[in-house]
Amino acid sequence: MSEPHVLLLGAPGAGKGTQSKRLADEFDIEHVTTGDALRANKDMDISHMDTEYDTPRAYMEAGELVPDEVVNEIVKTALQEADGYVLDGYPRNLDQAEYLSDITDLDVVVFLDVSESELVDRLTGRRVCDDCGANYHVEFSPPETEGVCDECGGDLIQRDDDTEDTVRERLRVYEENTEPVVEHYRDEGVLVEIDGEGTPDEVFEAIRDEVADAA
Ligand code: AP5
Repeated sequence: MSEPHVLLLGAPGAGKGTQSKRLADEFDIEHVTTGDALRANKDMDISHMDTEYDTPRAYMEAGELVPDEVVNEIVKTALQEADGYVLDGYPRNLDQAEYLSDITDLDVVVFLDVSESELVDRLTGRRVCDDCGANYHVEFSPPETEGVCDECGGDLIQRDDDTEDTVRERLRVYEENTEPVVEHYRDEGVLVEIDGEGTPDEVFEAIRDEVADAA
């Protein structure tokens, strides 16, 4: 049996990053995340693509989607290098979903269901390590020492797009562009819906069982 191909869908703040890291460790597969890839290449010059802005940064700080051409290429390259994977943050619109279906097959599509008020609380309270990227929450999973990463001692910062106004815009963009993607997989009968409001351990166990069944 080959390694599992997992797609994790959910709104901003649903816990995709938190759970993808754990799944990647559990099943020894790649964590393919367009958000992290774009954050590592925020100032890449994309002006030759005839896009509205010249860098991914401008889109991300506004809470808008980076153009498909940029993210499709990131995903294609990452999937070519992976045997098994958990895909996090892609596809975010129907065109990306169609592109994805041309380049790979999915074993399981999981949707993390979380209410809007919980999403806003999670995102505005999130802190990330500036050095290693570890993820915290000021209330739900605080570090041992405020502002300091437990894992590497780095500084904890708030992401530029985690301010309340940008979070609201990201949720609007999600509703307009990504909810139709969730519907698409639901219509195909392949969507597994999981309550994303349990503890991180409870959510992980539910996803892990689904992936194990599909693998
Ligand atoms: P991206 O980085 O993908 O952000 P996102 O989808 O908005 O998701 P987040 O990373 O904010 O949330 P998450 O679901 O991973 O939640 P997390 O686990 O961190 O994208 C950023 C930007 O890049 C986009 O806006 C866009 O501009 C661009 N982009 C990316 N992909 C693109 C694409 N395909 N096309 C075009 N543009 C693209 O958890 C959140 C918080 O909640 C944390 O503090 C965590 O500790 C806490 N938490 C997690 N689980 C629980 C739980 N069960 N209980 C309590 N707290 C919890």
